[in-house]
Amino acid sequence: MSVFMKDSEKEKIYISLVKEIRALTDGESDLIANLSNISAALKRAFLFYSWAGFYFFKGGELVLGPFQGKPACIRIVLGRGVCGTCADKKEAMIARDVSKFPGHIACDPGSKSEIVIPILKNGDLKAIIDIDSYETNSFSEIDKKYLQLVADICSNLFE
Ligand code: SME
Repeated sequence: MSVFMKDSEKEKIYISLVKEIRALTDGESDLIANLSNISAALKRAFLFYSWAGFYFFKGGELVLGPFQGKPACIRIVLGRGVCGTCADKKEAMIARDVSKFPGHIACDPGSKSEIVIPILKNGDLKAIIDIDSYETNSFSEIDKKYLQLVADICSNLFE
């Protein structure tokens, strides 16, 4: 089954998802509770997301945080794979075909495309948002734009 969506269809869902995430985190200060609910809201929003979650930047490497989906790699070295490259550059990355991304880490061999967004606070890396899909070319600039808004909300949750 193809779960391909037009950008206009995605945009509607992202607008309500961002509102939902603002409401879910409003008035709550516990980081793990908030990120757990955000990963659940993300995964539920789109059928084409096969995995949605967070890695924390801890002790110079990425360490698995709250997520929804199959069990995943726990530690990722900076500069390795899509997540490690995003963390190293502090820049959002879209891998339209992960098999063509140098060093891609196949936690789930079914994963075909991926988007990773850094969560920065005053310029410092705190975590990343990682989303996978079982189809190639699942992510576009629209996903990047709205997931960047989600990353901004997450940034405010870190001390
Ligand atoms: N594929 C990622 C690793 C994390 S999992 O997808 C959850 C990467 O290449 O960085």
